[in-house]
Amino acid sequence: MKIVSIVGARPNFVKLSPIHRSLSQYCDHVIIHTGQHYDFDMSNVFFKELQIPAPDINLGIGSLTPGAQIAEMIKGLENEFIQNKQVGAATEPDLVLVYGDTNSTFAGAMAASINQIPVAHVESGLRSFDRRMPEERNRILTDHLSDLLFAPTGTAVANLEVEHVSGKVINTGDLSVEIVKEAWKFSRNSKILEELSLKPKTFVLFTMHRAESTESYSNLKEIIEAFRELKFIGVEDSLSVGPGQPMDHGLSNSKPNMRYGETREQIQIVFPIHPRTEKSLKSHDLYEDLIGLENVKITKPMGYINFLRLIQDSYKVVTDSGGVQKEAYLCSVPCITIRKSTEWVETLEGGWNKLCNFRKNDIVDVVLQQNLKLGKNNSKAIYGNGNTSEIIRESIFHRYTKK
Ligand code: UD1
Ligand code: UDP
Repeated sequence: MKIVSIVGARPNFVKLSPIHRSLSQYCDHVIIHTGQHYDFDMSNVFFKELQIPAPDINLGIGSLTPGAQIAEMIKGLENEFIQNKQVGAATEPDLVLVYGDTNSTFAGAMAASINQIPVAHVESGLRSFDRRMPEERNRILTDHLSDLLFAPTGTAVANLEVEHVSGKVINTGDLSVEIVKEAWKFSRNSKILEELSLKPKTFVLFTMHRAESTESYSNLKEIIEAFRELKFIGVEDSLSVGPGQPMDHGLSNSKPNMRYGETREQIQIVFPIHPRTEKSLKSHDLYEDLIGLENVKITKPMGYINFLRLIQDSYKVVTDSGGVQKEAYLCSVPCITIRKSTEWVETLEGGWNKLCNFRKNDIVDVVLQQNLKLGKNNSKAIYGNGNTSEIIRESIFHRYTKK
């Protein structure tokens, strides 16, 4: 059986890693990279660190307007499927696998579907119910083109049932459980804290890259002003014990009466900056303001191993990322999601993830809030047992292998 995985952006590569490990022993697994992400720090580093072989084909599409990017990807993929037949042996794929919600995901599903190749969607059924997001449109369209839909949670299964998708839906759990577990073997030895002169639990890890967050001057300005105010925190004395091992979050050591100004530790903000965000800050003349802040450490986008270590040792995570919300939850680190909604609604339970708008005062308040009210962290039950890639492989062979 020949399976072609189509990937193109950072979150696609992360999800590809356990799937490749699982599939490659049992079938011909071909990887096509659309070229959507192309900087070393946004692409190659993930192949290297997560032990994914170099893509068999890279279409090199790069950054274009969204419509042109998707159109070029479909054209390039169709060419590979039909005309060149260079995808491994000179046969068409039996199945195309796509991941998540990027433009590469939708283009992959569309190109396969047009050419009568069945599509399976990894991380299917997530919804933010906000169709202004390109990711929401990509997910909905991909789900309706798919023959096999791998839903990570019960909520995702329910969303697909409501939409009456025509393919077969399977609740697989989420790949992040095994990704984090595997990567932690390396992250635990990461020296990134020393390199950045950081003490565990005294820094906030910040990421922001979504189009709707980064295009607005006001959002960027409010974030910078929030950073300017975030100087001290009441540090919790929790030790870093590693993902999946719940910590007591220093509840026994917390200081219920501690208010701003009575705190013990200076806070740092670590911001591995996405190229989209850097460009937007520069075009709004705000980049210099940001790098002028002494408590903010800007870095290039980070490789996965160091990034996971930063999540694990951060005091809190502030992000608009999908994947990072889940990873913070799995590491038992409180997360603040600077968005109106989240697809990962389970992480909101117990207060582990909080939605926050782009107002400076609200961001500062929620970052400084003590974690006294955190409920049970139910990540194991919610995201499965870490065997998602195996379930996906078995489901594929069950459906497509001729008996
Ligand atoms: C894409 C995904 C988003 C995902 C994110 C992960 C879509 C619609 N969006 O957003 O869901 O969360 O990836 O990181 O697919 N750029 C570079 N170097 C690169 C890649 C991009 O400089 O290697 C710059 C370019 O100026 C480009 C901009 O970043 O125009 C945005 O890149 P693009 O791939 O269009 O979207 P992302 O914001 O990365
Ligand atoms: N990530 C990383 N380095 C960074 C930022 C993110 O390794 O500097 C990882 C992150 O842990 C996640 C993946 O990249 O697993 C995708 O995250 P991103 O925020 O780019 O995309 P999203 O999940 O929002 O689609």
